[in-house]
Amino acid sequence: MDRWTKMYQEKRKTPEEVAKLFHAGDICLSNGQITEPIAILHALADRAEREGLTGIRHYLLLPMRNQKYMAAGMEAHIRHVSHFVSGFDREAIWEGRSDYLPSHYSQVPVLWKQVLEGPDVFYCTVSPMDRHGYFSCGTAADLSEIRKKARRLFLEVNPTMPRTFGSHIHISEVDALVESDLPITEVPPAPISKDDQIIGGMIAQEICDGATLQLGIGGIPNAVAQALMDKRDLGIHSEMFCDSIVDLTNAGVITNDRKKIHRGKTIVTFTFGARSTYDFIDDNPGVEFLPVDYVNDPFVIAQNDNVISINSCMEIDLFGQVCSETIGPKNFSGAGGQVDFIRGAAASKGGKSFLAFKSAAKNDTISKIKPVLTEGSCVTTTRNDVDYIVTEQGMVRLKGLTCSERAKALIGIAHPNFREELTRAAQKMHLIV
Ligand code: COA
Repeated sequence: MDRWTKMYQEKRKTPEEVAKLFHAGDICLSNGQITEPIAILHALADRAEREGLTGIRHYLLLPMRNQKYMAAGMEAHIRHVSHFVSGFDREAIWEGRSDYLPSHYSQVPVLWKQVLEGPDVFYCTVSPMDRHGYFSCGTAADLSEIRKKARRLFLEVNPTMPRTFGSHIHISEVDALVESDLPITEVPPAPISKDDQIIGGMIAQEICDGATLQLGIGGIPNAVAQALMDKRDLGIHSEMFCDSIVDLTNAGVITNDRKKIHRGKTIVTFTFGARSTYDFIDDNPGVEFLPVDYVNDPFVIAQNDNVISINSCMEIDLFGQVCSETIGPKNFSGAGGQVDFIRGAAASKGGKSFLAFKSAAKNDTISKIKPVLTEGSCVTTTRNDVDYIVTEQGMVRLKGLTCSERAKALIGIAHPNFREELTRAAQKMHLIV
């Protein structure tokens, strides 16, 4: 038996044994999304409940499945703190059982390195160890470097986690590990609506050959991707690897050949999606998963030319202030890397950023373009950063427009049902005379 395998065997434990290595009041941090260590957390929740262990905090960015620790009544034992809210922790946050920590995605590692004291425990799911003793961070490398600030490092080794390039953890760093073969979470692709196709077509016209893209999740980025099939030599430098990157790469549209940094490589920090996406990134040296404080750093993003950032929002007011993370005062998602990429694109030669959304929500009963933001809404992208706004009604560039010009431009791409009402409100605010 080689040295690393021997070390692996010595550190291998059951989830229940690892659960015993936690203490009351421990601050615990996971890599993001589907790399949350499911078996360890389940055993920990069982032990905390059984033994009355309290005050543990579990920090995670974007939970992707139901977990026992999130159930009502568990919060005294394990309090979940979200770096990005999803459908799985929204209710707990709205009921005050979980909490939200605001931050740009690029800054989350900086918070852990410089503001917070560093976690007691860092844990995550990884792919099986290679012959050199390394585990790949799989589908998320976002916070992986924070493990170096943690007092204890626990891994959950899962053969269904793809082995990706860019970020690895060595067995010699690990305090304990468990093995789990629970299939990692798969997320079906978002359907593409007719409006998404219209929006995707408009944005695609603004993208030149050789551009470097950031694509988020959802129907609109997928629609943009579909409309890019006749482009050449596109590159990817994006926080998320979305399913449509697979199609564009297989079609030869994404080559990364014209990138200024990481030429020939797709650079991302996390993914979740279809199994076919996990199969594509498995053992694929063309894709690298790197920590988010690097990938989302606007100065890094700006080193590529023609950076195109495509994201969405909840609402925008007539001044161009954008709320992307709350509905009124209720946390709905998070800032994520929206501002990181908008600022990176702004600093890139030829860069452009797009915020794209359907002009009205809830069966066209709520306009997403508002005179002023709904009371309690949090501004994600300021009016000083905002660039292109796209709805199925049209596209406007706010950069360079005065307040009055912005109001007129935004009303022009609002849902027709709301244009009169918006015009009256704009007149009242003396934005339109
Ligand atoms: N008022 C009330 N409800 C609204 C609303 C508004 N202004 N805008 C949207 N909604 C509702 C929708 O009707 C929908 O409800 P439903 O699920 O009951 O149908 C729900 O909110 C989600 O809206 P939708 O437009 O489908 O959201 P999305 O999946 O396109 O995501 C964001 C939009 C803004 C939540 C998402 O893009 C985000 O989190 N952005 C911030 C982070 C970011 O940009 N990161 C970088 C890329 S990864």
